[in-house]
Parts: sequence; structure tokens; C-alpha cells
Amino acid sequence: MCARSHGITFTRIDPAHASDPAHGTTTDPDTTTDPGTDRDPGTGNGTTTDPTFATDAGTATYYDRRAREYDDWYVGAGAYAVRERPGWDEEVAAIVALVARLPPRRTLDVACGTGYLTRHLRGFVVGLDLSPAMVEIAQSRLPDGLALVGDALHLPVATAGFERVFTGHFYGHLPPAERAAFLSEARRVARELVVVDTARREDTPGERWEQRVLGDGSRHRVYKRYLDGDELAGELGGTTLFAGRWFVAARATWH
Ligand SMILES: C[S@@+](CC[C@H](N)C(=O)[O-])C[C@H]1O[C@@H](n2cnc3c(N)ncnc32)[C@H](O)[C@@H]1O
Repeated sequence: MCARSHGITFTRIDPAHASDPAHGTTTDPDTTTDPGTDRDPGTGNGTTTDPTFATDAGTATYYDRRAREYDDWYVGAGAYAVRERPGWDEEVAAIVALVARLPPRRTLDVACGTGYLTRHLRGFVVGLDLSPAMVEIAQSRLPDGLALVGDALHLPVATAGFERVFTGHFYGHLPPAERAAFLSEARRVARELVVVDTARREDTPGERWEQRVLGDGSRHRVYKRYLDGDELAGELGGTTLFAGRWFVAARATWH
């Protein structure tokens, strides 16, 4: 059952399934449990406020606690071992190949997470993330690069300091005001933006709150949008690089 509030679709789920990581096997690839519920689990965004992600304290806590298990999502381990994700491994490989094919550039990977994709970027690479735990893992994967703790909406780098901003699975989490702030910062620091994100599918709405459950049993609530390739490219004023079942990618340039 779905309900709309503040322009967001809330998907009600059977509470009996709320902590079952196997439930909803084809839902958001970035969820550790099934889609959101409109019950406020007591962390992060509530149902009566406008959505936030990059400025949300609960979301920051969630990702910092998730860092050590984050890559389970990519490799199908842990809670994701039981997920049915047809074509997933092939699309992860295709996205990795796309990232590795990007021409070498001085690149800032904003919200780099564990550096799972960052490590495939060529050229001088700096990863930046709000989560110290994510940054520690990313740094271990960037022997020739740098990983820093920092805020995507207030990038601690000089104007035109990079040739490219790259971001994976971050842009699609941002509600309008945060999206505008991020795009403004991306334009300030580089002339090129490459975004990799989660594809919109027949079983996903355009946006929703999602309830995430970590291995330690903690519950978190995260705002998430799903875009098709043309929508993403349209929002960025760029072109589609990839439009698959699980992932989309687009690139924009400014002069
Ligand atoms: C879904 S993960 C994406 C990680 C990685 N880019 C990837 O593609 O796998 C979202 C990341 O955004 C980070 N994040 C959230 N708010 C942020 C902010 N204000 N500034 C920088 N990073 C932020 C989180 O810590 C988390 O690592």
C-alpha cells in the first residue's frame, strides 16, 4: 500500500517483514531490508518533515555504521547473499568498466563511500565522504590517491580545483534543495560531472523513504529517488552513459 505525504511515496510493508533482509528480493539494490515504512523508526527523517539526506544526522550515523558491511551490497555477501538480483553481477562489472574507461582526469569523487568505484578512476583521484569509517576504507584502496572526510554540500576544495567531479549513489538520494547545493558545488570545482546511480524499475516508485537494517540490528531511515537514464541526464543537462536494469550513469560538462 502506498501513501503520499510531502510529495513522497511511502510504501507500507508488513511489520513482520520489516527486519527480514531477504524480504523484497528485487527492491532497491542499496537497501539492507525492504522498502520504507511510514512508521518513524526513531532515527533520521520523520514523516512530518521535508526530506534530507546529506544534512541529516541520522543518515550520517547510518552510513558510518554501515561502512564495514557496505560492499556486501556490491558483491552479494551478508544480507545480500539471499537477494535475487538478475543480471546484477554483470551490471556491476559494466559500471566498473565504464568508470575505468573514463579518460584520466584530476577527479574528486564526492561521497566516495568505501571507494569501491573510486579505485577504478584513472588520473589523480581524491575521494571525499562525510563518514570517517568510509574514508578509512577508501584510503586503503587509493594507494596513489587521497581520501578525505568532508561535506559534499560545502566542498573543502578550491574553485576549479579539479577537472571532474564523480559521484556514485549519492545524487539520487538528494531532495531538491540538497541537489541544487551539490550541483552548485560540483560546477564550482570542476567542468565535468559524472553521476552513477540506481536505476528506476517497474517495482520502484520515483522516490520514497526506505528503512534500512544493519547487521547489528539497528534500523535507519533513508530518503531515495530512482531515475531512468534520460531523467538523470535531463536533470544534469548532460548525456546518458549507461541505462541498465540496476544502474544508470550520465555525464554533464560546463564551460
Ligand atoms: C549510498 S553511499 C555511496 C557510496 C559510493 N559512492 C558508492 O557508489 O558505492 C552514500 C554515501 O554518501 C555519504 N554522504 C552522505 N552525506 C554526505 C555529505 N553531506 N557529504 C559527503 N558524503 C556524504 C555517505 O557517508 C555514504 O558513504
